[in-house]
Amino acid sequence: MSNLMDLICDIDKHREYIRNTFAAPHIEYNLFDKDDIEWLEDYCYESTQNRRRNDNGTLFFSGGFDTIVTKFQRKLELVLPGCTNSPDIDGNFFITPHQYGLHNDSIPRWRWEQNGAKDGHYYPWRNILIPLWQSPEHASSQIVFFKQRDLDWAKVYKHNSDEHVATTYPVCRDYSEISTFYNKHGEHMPWQDRPLEPEEFLLYLRESPPQRYSGLDVEVMIDWTPGSAFAFDSWQLHATNRGDPPWHQKSGLLLCFFKMLGSQYG
Ligand SMILES: [Fe+2]
Repeated sequence: MSNLMDLICDIDKHREYIRNTFAAPHIEYNLFDKDDIEWLEDYCYESTQNRRRNDNGTLFFSGGFDTIVTKFQRKLELVLPGCTNSPDIDGNFFITPHQYGLHNDSIPRWRWEQNGAKDGHYYPWRNILIPLWQSPEHASSQIVFFKQRDLDWAKVYKHNSDEHVATTYPVCRDYSEISTFYNKHGEHMPWQDRPLEPEEFLLYLRESPPQRYSGLDVEVMIDWTPGSAFAFDSWQLHATNRGDPPWHQKSGLLLCFFKMLGSQYG
């Protein structure tokens, strides 16, 4: 398989094309049964080649995702038609004691630059997230997707905060610097300093101060339900929460897919 970073385009050069490829998140419920989830967990522990741990205690496992995509081709195509045409698959299994703060999952610029900053023919397209488990099982937790797609390199968003963040992504601490927010129709969304809309969603996002979500709009909130799977634009801002009742640890699989520039929109 080719080196993924050789395939990735210079995002700064292709915004006008990419902004026409967005779509709303898509969820499939009850897609993976108990046996599938057990198989995926075994694969995580026994067959991935890379592992790392961050400062929050999150464990990441990656490698060999082509085998997973081949095995679950039919199911993944239901969540994201066309995903099995991706020339390579990025992503990770994760086991985490900590909710994920606001971020987008495109490609970190440093990874692409480290590889020589080649303007390849593919762009980060959409990701599939598969919740594997949460404990305790009866915890109720969510992932919130915002209308804003940041058509830019991967980053974490932490407005007006100088708190340390355990991440390999750069951290944006002033949203007024961002000029690359678009909605699912590819329309530009200039950032404005105002509370989250609708503001009621702050009840679900109590882990961070409200200012972290300032100027953003909720598009959809999805329950963390093992067995389901959902696809979303690589650029779309999202955050997970602690839940109520809260969870102590949870696990999932993130798969990232790429599409050729100039192919049919979407
Ligand atoms: Fe993410």
